[in-house]
Amino acid sequence: MAFPPAFLDELNRRTPIEELVGQYVSLTRRGGNLFGLCPFHGEKTASFSVAPDKGIYYCFGCHKGGGAINFIMEIEGLSYADAVRFLAKRAGLELPEDDRDNSQYKKKERLWALCKESARFFHEQLKSPGAREVWDYIHKRGLSPSTVKRFGLGFAPNGWNNLMDAMTAKGFTKSELLEAGLVLQHKEKGTFYDRFRNRLMFPIIDVRGNVIGFGGRVMDDSTPKYLNSPETLIFNKRRNLFALNVVKKSKSDCIILTEGYMDAIALHQYGFDCAVASLGTSLTQEHADLLSKYTNEVVLTYDGDQAGQNATQRAIPMLEKTGLRVKILRMQGAKDPDEFLKKFGADRFKLLLQGCENQAEYRLMSLQKQYDLNIDEQKVEFAKKAAELISTYSTAVEREIYGIKAAEMAKLTPEVMSLEIKKAFKRRMAIERKVQEKKELELSAARQPRSRDIRYDNLRSAMAEETLIRMLQRDPSLFARGEKLQQGYFSVPMFGKIFDIWRNCWRQDLPLQTGSLAEVLNASEMAHLSGLLQKADTPVVEEAFDDCVRIIAEEGREPEDLRAMQERLKRKKGYGGN
Ligand code: UTP
Ligand code: MN
Repeated sequence: MAFPPAFLDELNRRTPIEELVGQYVSLTRRGGNLFGLCPFHGEKTASFSVAPDKGIYYCFGCHKGGGAINFIMEIEGLSYADAVRFLAKRAGLELPEDDRDNSQYKKKERLWALCKESARFFHEQLKSPGAREVWDYIHKRGLSPSTVKRFGLGFAPNGWNNLMDAMTAKGFTKSELLEAGLVLQHKEKGTFYDRFRNRLMFPIIDVRGNVIGFGGRVMDDSTPKYLNSPETLIFNKRRNLFALNVVKKSKSDCIILTEGYMDAIALHQYGFDCAVASLGTSLTQEHADLLSKYTNEVVLTYDGDQAGQNATQRAIPMLEKTGLRVKILRMQGAKDPDEFLKKFGADRFKLLLQGCENQAEYRLMSLQKQYDLNIDEQKVEFAKKAAELISTYSTAVEREIYGIKAAEMAKLTPEVMSLEIKKAFKRRMAIERKVQEKKELELSAARQPRSRDIRYDNLRSAMAEETLIRMLQRDPSLFARGEKLQQGYFSVPMFGKIFDIWRNCWRQDLPLQTGSLAEVLNASEMAHLSGLLQKADTPVVEEAFDDCVRIIAEEGREPEDLRAMQERLKRKKGYGGN
C-alpha cells in the first residue's frame, strides 16, 4: 500500500517521535536526545535513544530502530499499513481516499467494537435475575466483587440467542458475530446461535485494551470445562496472554505465568498484580517475545504433573532466548496457584516466590531424574552431564554450591565432582575464547552492518555512502554538491533509495523525513539507518562530502566506464580493420 508522500509528511509532522514513544517508555533528556529503557528487550540501563530532530529512535542494546511508523509496527505488532492507519487515527488525520487496502483494518475495528459491546453485555447480565447461579459460583470460587469488576467478568445467559439479539439490535450483523466467533451457524439449517451459553465469562483483552475474545467456564462438571473464542481476525492465541493488559501497568519486577484464567485472577486478588495466563495453548515463542517487552524475569507456575513439567521444559529455552531470566515455582499440597492461595494464603505464596528455585537447580533435578544413580555407568554419565551443566553457571559460588548438590545426588565426593566441573569449565572457556576471537576478527575485518539482510559488498563505497547519507541528513543543502550522483552508483541499495527519495524531497523543498522511508525500506534497513543517524555526529565538512561523492561515483561508475571503454576499443579495431 502506497500512501501519498504529502500525507506521510503530514502524518510525521503531527507525530513528534518523543511524544509518541513517551506514551510507552518513560524518557529523560540528555543533550539533544532522550533516553529510556528499551521496550523491545529487557534491560536495566537506558540504551534506548530518541532523536526528536531526526524523528527516529534507536536502541544501542538490541539495535532496533526506525521512525514513528516502525515504532508502532514493532510495539503494537501491526503491519506497515495498519501502523500508518493507527497513527493517522491518533493524529486525527483523514486517511487518503484511495486507501482501498484498509477494509481489513476497518473490519478489525468493527470486530473490536463488537467484542467490547459483548463484554459489556455479559457484564450487565450479572445484574439480571437469571444470574443467581453464576453468583453462587463466583462466591464458591472466592472471587470478590472488585475482582469481578477489574477483570470485567460476565455471564452468558442460558439460551440460544441472547447475545445475538442484543448485538444485532446494536447494528452488528450476524456475519460479524460469526467472524468474531461469538455465534455458530447450524450446518444444515444455516441458522445462527450463541456460542457461549450458561457460562461465567472471562473477556480476553490485548495490551492495547481491545477486547479480542472470551473464555467461558461451566458452573458444574459438564464439558468442555472452558470454552474459548476460536482464532479470528483479531484473536490470536499464540500472540496474546490473558491479563497482560493489567500486568503491563504493574510495578513488580517479574511476571508470573500460569496455566489458567482462574489462577491468574486469584493471584491478582491476593495481591500479586503481575500474573498472566496462556490461553489454553502451550507457550509459544511469540508469547516469550511479548513477555520480554514487559519484564526481565518470568516465574513459571505450571502444574506439578508430567504434562506441566514437560511444558516447563519447553518454555525455558523459549523464554531464555529472549534474554529473560526464568524461575520455576513448585507448589506442594495444591495443584495450581488458585488452589494454593485458598489453602495456604498469600504469605505462603510469597515465601514460595522468594525462595523459588532458579532454573539452575531445576535443571539439575530434571537431569537427575533421567538417570538411575544406583547403576555405576549411569552415575558416571550423570556426573559428566551435571558437570557440563554446572560449568555454565556464571559465578564460582554457584558452581561450588551446585557441585556439592550434584555430588550428593550421585553419592560422589564433592572433590571428584568439583574436579569434573573444573575440567568442563576449562573446555567451555577454551571454546568461548575461540568464538570470541573469531567474532573480533570478523568485526574488525569488515565493518558489516549487524543485520544479515544488509551486505556491504564494496566496503570503500559503502563507508562513503554511510557518511554521505549522515551528512545530507544534517545539511540537505549539500545535495547541490552531489548533483552528479545517481541512485545506481550506490553499492548499497538502501542508501541509493534513501538518496533518491531525499533528493526529491530537497528538490520540492520538503523536509527530509526519516519516518516516511518506512514505506520503501524494510525493518532491518530502517533499524540500520537509525543506528547510523544516531552515531556521534561527524562535523559537516564540504570537502569531506565532496570526497564521498567522488568515491561513490568512482566505485559506482567504474563498471559502466570499463564497458564503454571496451565498446570504444572494439569499434576502433573494427574501423582499423576496414
Ligand atoms: P485446567 O483444567 O488446569 O483448569 O485448565 P483450571 O485453570 O484449574 O480451572 P479451574 O480452576 O478448574 O476453573 C487450565 C486452562 O486450560 C484451558 C483454559 O485456558 C484453562 O484456564 N482449558 C481447560 C480449556 O481451554 N478448555 C478446557 O476444557 C479446559
Ligand atoms: Mn484450578
